[in-house]
Amino acid sequence: MEHLTLASERLAAEAVRRLLLGGVVPRPIAWTSTLGPEGVPNLAPFSYFTVASTDPPMLSLTIEPHDSGTTKDTAANIARTGEFVVSIVPEELGEAMWATSADVPPEEDEFAVAATPPAPARHVSPSRVAESPLAMECVLERSLPMGNALLVIGRVVCFHVRPDVLDGRGRIVPERLRALGRAGGRYLGTTETYSLPRDRQGPPGAAACGR
Ligand SMILES: Cc1cc2nc3c(=O)[nH]c(=O)nc-3n(C[C@H](O)[C@H](O)[C@H](O)COP(=O)(O)O)c2cc1C
Repeated sequence: MEHLTLASERLAAEAVRRLLLGGVVPRPIAWTSTLGPEGVPNLAPFSYFTVASTDPPMLSLTIEPHDSGTTKDTAANIARTGEFVVSIVPEELGEAMWATSADVPPEEDEFAVAATPPAPARHVSPSRVAESPLAMECVLERSLPMGNALLVIGRVVCFHVRPDVLDGRGRIVPERLRALGRAGGRYLGTTETYSLPRDRQGPPGAAACGR
């Protein structure tokens, strides 16, 4: 079958979004906690999220403005405090995560909106999501305007990992983490993983360290 060849500059913005968000999948979700100006906890999901560096450990998030053009609370809070915590969303917290994607006023505690309890972080002020099996405390390394959005890079200063998601060698087992992924307008669970032949042979480089 012939591919459709589509120059992005000739596509409508919505068509571009559909191709990017439907095609770059599955994306994990950074459930990101920050503190508002009055110290009120803010929590929101971001799926434009990945590892930016492993040494030192860094994560990147891309935060767009609201459709109205106003800055999202998460971006404003990170710019002001230089701190955030990313909690990975397990499948069972999908509904709670979704509740925090609403445009909630900064005076409202979004852990309460999600009805999910916070737990204290060790090195930064925002709390982590207590029921998330993996949370990463971050300090702002750099933020870069990127197109219509802000690319935020955070250095991970502390990991909180629930021991039951680890195997005997300290590796996270995907079927135990059960991270929720974003795929187009839908979600993907992590129910089944498998190895490619080269992984089984234990080659040097990427596959051996789980990239
Ligand atoms: C699964 C999911 C993923 C999302 N990913 C992003 C994202 O990567 N970037 C973004 O700007 N908004 C994203 N959003 C929308 C924000 O979560 C939403 O605008 C939220 O209200 C922002 O909250 P805040 O104003 O407290 O920061 C996502 C929403 C959902 C449900």
